[in-house]
Amino acid sequence: MTDNASKSPAANGQGQAMWGGRFSAKPAELMQAINVSIGFDKRLWAQDLAGSRAHARMLISQGVIASSDGEEILEGLARIEDELTTGTFPFRDEYEDIHMNIEARLRELIGPTAGRLHTARSRNDQVAVDFRLWVRDAADRSAAQLEALQKALLAQAETYADALMPGFTHLQPAQPVTFGHHLMAYVEMFGRDAGRFRDARARMNECPLGAAALAGSPFPIDRHQTAASLGFDRPTANSLDSVSSRDFALEALSAASITATHLSRLAEEIVLWTTPMFGFIKLTDAFTTGSSIMPQKKNPDAAELIRAKVGRILGSLTTLTVVMKGLPLAYSKDMQEDKVPTFEAFDALELSLLAMAGMIADLTPNTEKMAAAAGAGFSTATDLADWLVRELNMPFRDAHHVTGSAVKAAETKGVDLAELSLAEFQAIEPRITDGVYAVLTPAASAASRMSYGGTAPAQVRAQIARWKETLA
Ligand code: ARG
Repeated sequence: MTDNASKSPAANGQGQAMWGGRFSAKPAELMQAINVSIGFDKRLWAQDLAGSRAHARMLISQGVIASSDGEEILEGLARIEDELTTGTFPFRDEYEDIHMNIEARLRELIGPTAGRLHTARSRNDQVAVDFRLWVRDAADRSAAQLEALQKALLAQAETYADALMPGFTHLQPAQPVTFGHHLMAYVEMFGRDAGRFRDARARMNECPLGAAALAGSPFPIDRHQTAASLGFDRPTANSLDSVSSRDFALEALSAASITATHLSRLAEEIVLWTTPMFGFIKLTDAFTTGSSIMPQKKNPDAAELIRAKVGRILGSLTTLTVVMKGLPLAYSKDMQEDKVPTFEAFDALELSLLAMAGMIADLTPNTEKMAAAAGAGFSTATDLADWLVRELNMPFRDAHHVTGSAVKAAETKGVDLAELSLAEFQAIEPRITDGVYAVLTPAASAASRMSYGGTAPAQVRAQIARWKETLA
């Protein structure tokens, strides 16, 4: 390939076809093709401008550049911002990345003074600060969207705090719970997810600007000033670490992956619950799609896509982890590969969070169907065993055995536990009284679970109140 590539297109003969005419096969073009990042790092333009402004102001106040030069630079940057916001900025591949595109444009607009902006700075600390600012914003947005999703869940949980549904283990009917309680389980998960983004933010909130290429700068720069003006808590403390670390992105991607895992579980439940075999909830046309051949279909596509997004997001974490492993200090160009997976992951996460919040607000449970299912499968068997312990002072293991016999009798007869007669109960355990029937309804079962964090509606309402206060 290199052999052919070094020949002129005319001398290239057969080799040229290998690139399908896309390249004229000059090494410089291939070099540019692999090196160029403006196609994706243009997304950092706002962060790049913020970093450049903070740097320019610091250079002025430290007397590193003349105020008049600094003012010219700042005015030029303002014009560039206009061009970027109005979509008239000329992005050019030959300037490789966003940093050099902006600097080249600044030179066109204000002349050679533009060259003073890069005093005491390198693209290595420049990209490090830009990317950190971007990831910090992404973490903030994700935390905010998680809270919006929690609020959507809370609203439904409050409405259905005592709507009965089956609680499952192994996806087999286990014990009755309430729909509100089930939704509140996700409020807890998403609360921890938002906390992970906040924790990651606190750790990443140190400013790498001023580390320069890798060793720091001989100019009298004030890194505390630039850090403060960009909203960082402090400057990073080691210049090598500043330009070569991307664990802030790995940590944010880890938080994103865990969040996506939780979203995927909820999405799977929505898929299950909307299937007519469950029929627990309905989504409106706003969050379903039809089939081109089967007129009866209403498919929960949004839920399915959210369920799948975890692949892309966890994939991004894997990608960046593999990019970073084994890299010697300090900067290596490998690190340019940090952006695409990170952008992709957060695009997918944010869309998923918004769509999930929309779907949660959109859904209506079929409370009758859920309540009927809550009583099926001998779901109050544990309540019978607990009654035997409480009323007859039986050891739980014996009560478990007696209950097993009752379930067997009901199953043989094809009825629910509550439909066994007192005589039938007494045939199994003579001391059983008709007081037992009070604990055999799903409503009584749920209401009895008053332990802290339990499914009793009163407990569910207490947790809803606590979260409403936290999120207010
Ligand atoms: N485009 C580069 C990146 O994203 C900017 C840093 C380039 N630094 C360098 N020494 N070539 O990583």
